[in-house]
Amino acid sequence: MADNNRMKALVLSGGKGTRLRPLTHTGAKQLVPIANRPILSYVLDNIANVGIKEVGIIISPETGGEIKETMGDGSKWGVSIEYILQTEPKGLAHAVLIGRDFLGDSPFVMYLGDNLIGCGIEKFVETFNKTGADAVILLKPVDNPSSFGVAEADGAGKIIRLEEKPKDPRSNLALVGVYIFSEEIHKAISEIKPSARGELEITDAIQKLISIGKPVHSHILDTWWLDTGKKDDLLAANTIVLDEWFKRKINGEVDSLSKVTGRVTIDKGAVVRNSILRGPIVIGPGAIIEDSFIGPFTSIGANTRIKKSIIEHSVILSGSELSHIERLEDSLIGRNTKVVKCQDKHQALRLMIGDDSVVEV
Ligand code: G1P
Repeated sequence: MADNNRMKALVLSGGKGTRLRPLTHTGAKQLVPIANRPILSYVLDNIANVGIKEVGIIISPETGGEIKETMGDGSKWGVSIEYILQTEPKGLAHAVLIGRDFLGDSPFVMYLGDNLIGCGIEKFVETFNKTGADAVILLKPVDNPSSFGVAEADGAGKIIRLEEKPKDPRSNLALVGVYIFSEEIHKAISEIKPSARGELEITDAIQKLISIGKPVHSHILDTWWLDTGKKDDLLAANTIVLDEWFKRKINGEVDSLSKVTGRVTIDKGAVVRNSILRGPIVIGPGAIIEDSFIGPFTSIGANTRIKKSIIEHSVILSGSELSHIERLEDSLIGRNTKVVKCQDKHQALRLMIGDDSVVEV
């Protein structure tokens, strides 16, 4: 591992938590679980793996409490975490401004806490260390560049211009939410003005570095990058993470009537009775699965109860209960939710569904 002791990390986990409604009506989007782990845990894995020891996490008044509670002091990753409050969402570059005391003049990785990428960041840190660049950015071709920061490169791959959410994008190369900066970025931030959406954009600050001739290097990300803002994205992220990163690990209790095949992770305290489990699957602590079939690409959260049901390619968050469901596929079930097929003759649907929900019967 390279000696990146001087390098710090600034993780942006602000926001009101409204993007993944209704799941994050009240909660932080950075804590939405992918394969039973909050997105932010994968971010911290990547940061710790390059030897960074000091991490600042930018939090908002709305969701900061639960982020602190979940991530703790960083000892789980062998890093120290300092929480930095951003009272208003004034932009990514504004978050750097607020983090200045923590960052000092150290080089740093800036990581957006809701970004999940399919690889570590070793290569990007190495580029930064070897080339002496003032910024290293990550790019990924996307179908909807107008929703992102967009980079324009010349024939030789040199970045000539960056634009935040342009109406007429000059390329399909989106800025991924992982950046590495030298202390030069602070000067650039002091010279930019708020954008049309009223925010200090990091994209504008990097553009400033480019226009004054500072070296900015880019990498095209050759693995997946998931924007976990929507149900299908979240299911896709869950599928990929289970497929690529999970191993067979059975720490829970499985009775002799059950059959568990493939890469199935069953956490301690979970119980499986008379059921068939076909991986990749993860089952959280305290979950009880009875007389059921759980198929590939399913994450079952902690303390969930599944009875006489068939479930495949779905994410069931903690504390939920599913009973007598003939077949559930491609579904996302929030926390402490009950999906029960009534055992009476009427076969009527009796629903209590929260705001912004979707039910396909
Ligand atoms: C932010 C950045 C944008 C970048 C994106 C990546 O957008 O401003 O340049 O492409 O993150 O996730 P926001 O999430 O603030 O809309």
